Amino acid sequence: PLAIKIEGPPKPISTDLVGVFFEDINYAADGGLYAELIQNRSFDYSALEQLSWNPLSFWEVVQLGGGKGSLGLDAGRPLHPNNPTYAVLNVDNVGEGVGVRNPGFDGVPVVAGKKYNVSLFVRQLYVERRWGGGPIPDDKSFTLTARLEGPDGANLGETELKYSGSDWRRLEGGITADKSEPRARFVLLAHEQGGIALDMVSLFPQDTFRDRPNGLRNDLAESIEALEPKFVRFPGGCLVHGNGLANMYRWKDTIGPIEHRRAQLNIWGYHQTMGLGYFEYFQFCEDIGAKPLPVVPAAVSCQNSGVTGGRGQEGLPLTDMPAYVQEVLDLIEWANGPADSEWGSKRAAAGHPEPFNLEYLGVGNEDHITPVFRKRFEILHEAIEAKHPEITLIGTVGPSSEGPDYEEGWRIADALGVDMVDEHYYRSPEWFLENTQRYDGYDRDKSQVYLGEYAAHDHGRQATLRSALAEAAYLTHLERNADIVRLASYAPLLARRGHTQWTPDLIYFDEAGVYPTVNYYVQQLFSRNSGDQSFTTRVNDGEPGDGATGVFASTVLDSENRVLIVKLVNTTDKACATQIALPDGYSPKTPATESPATASSATVHVLTGDPMTSNPQDPMARGRSAESPMTPTSSPLEVAEDFDYEAPPHSLSVIRVRLA
Ligand code: AHR
Repeated sequence: PLAIKIEGPPKPISTDLVGVFFEDINYAADGGLYAELIQNRSFDYSALEQLSWNPLSFWEVVQLGGGKGSLGLDAGRPLHPNNPTYAVLNVDNVGEGVGVRNPGFDGVPVVAGKKYNVSLFVRQLYVERRWGGGPIPDDKSFTLTARLEGPDGANLGETELKYSGSDWRRLEGGITADKSEPRARFVLLAHEQGGIALDMVSLFPQDTFRDRPNGLRNDLAESIEALEPKFVRFPGGCLVHGNGLANMYRWKDTIGPIEHRRAQLNIWGYHQTMGLGYFEYFQFCEDIGAKPLPVVPAAVSCQNSGVTGGRGQEGLPLTDMPAYVQEVLDLIEWANGPADSEWGSKRAAAGHPEPFNLEYLGVGNEDHITPVFRKRFEILHEAIEAKHPEITLIGTVGPSSEGPDYEEGWRIADALGVDMVDEHYYRSPEWFLENTQRYDGYDRDKSQVYLGEYAAHDHGRQATLRSALAEAAYLTHLERNADIVRLASYAPLLARRGHTQWTPDLIYFDEAGVYPTVNYYVQQLFSRNSGDQSFTTRVNDGEPGDGATGVFASTVLDSENRVLIVKLVNTTDKACATQIALPDGYSPKTPATESPATASSATVHVLTGDPMTSNPQDPMARGRSAESPMTPTSSPLEVAEDFDYEAPPHSLSVIRVRLA
């Protein structure tokens, strides 16, 4: 058998190692985690490279039983300057109702017996027209019908919404669906001749994650929670620096009432409502027990943006930097400041007087490390360090595991003494298996590392068990080096089938369900089986991570729970007999002393299967796959100071030894 020797003394490691990278890519936010069911609710979509979208996209006029009307746009008296355009519905002939219809994101999925909360802003124009521009009486009232309908127009449930007044009014109500329908549509009907202005037409399931208003889709939020991530990075990715300076993600545009938020284009070719904004991100982190890791732009645009007449990086004018620096400092005050501070009070007003305890802040996302970048990063770094030395500032070393950006990024980190740097790389499974000693040689006196984006891309950018095991082998190396690699996140996290700009992703979903990949289970096994100390683990007396046997191993101690966790990754196609020797002084608990639930001295979790299989087999196919997905199995295991264990071919085994 292969000798697996675990040697002490253990060294302290990061307890935050495995987190998630959330980017609004692949419809991860709007049409994804954010539970809003209406698409283009605020009538501000605009044309995109390949899409002729406009402010009325996804809306159409409904004319029932002889009704006649039209839908237009206006910007004369908006709800808020950040939300400039709104729809105008003109009813010429009432018939049985004239209104608007929205198909949501590939349909509005509704479940029989469930309630859906509708809300919208309305301003009456009936009277304005009749009064010919004179003073408007404020006693005008009328009723609208909000309805869910099936693809054939069948009524699935409705509610009446009453308006009175003369200015913008927020109306709300609830619709209970009387039939399940994955592809329902939302309809709003008026019953009087004249015109009304409409904005922020919104529909949410009543059941959102933790029942939060303006909340998150339950099944997706739960699948992220089940990863037990130690941190959540948001809002990206390239989304952070955006498609040109005007498209940078500005956190202040994403807080406060949703109708005051500034929606904008998404660099990935669709739109961002900002309904899932900074408050919702921080709240979600708190709800799932993960630390928030926001990333702000380093005052430069994405190097891949087309705005400069090709590819190039733009930097904010230096004269704008003081205001931008203040914007970033304000974020820290918003997250951590007292409820009576200027920005802390906005957090409190949103319902969270307690601080969010922000620890990590990313500045920049895989930018090209040019003099333009350097100047702006230096300014931001100096200001944040001076005012908030308690924050771990994470800089960037470009988009690759090596090369000029990486080298220059590290030179800057060395020169400034940056707390941590963010490395990104997407490589083949072979690359990951050949680089399982990368961080052994990193200088412990330099910046720490956040491996912010990584994934093994198998042939044709697949997520296979083979790629997942390459990531697992790499994670054994990250665990061993988690004294310097403090954080790591697979990327990207979410992808909506049919709206995917990037593959592979960790979790696929559609309106009907959530489909985790096999790589998801690797992340979960590492996150759920993390420790605070790491031991040197040798395979056949080799150097850790040398890969000579095709078997990779790591061992961590969860000292709070007195559990020693051994991970074995067998990348070969043969079952591998191993003999595992626990470190001196760490003996397993005697089973007899345990309750039946934990009657064995250890538990083993195993993930194994056909290496070329994806999970699900066709991640892009719509609907639930027929095949059963590859998921880990768990079983009791009897262990001693020295014990035999057979690692199945193509497998990850996680052995949890309860210590005496
Ligand atoms: O994860 C997808 C993209 O990959 C990110 O937006 C970007 O940072 C990287 O290039």
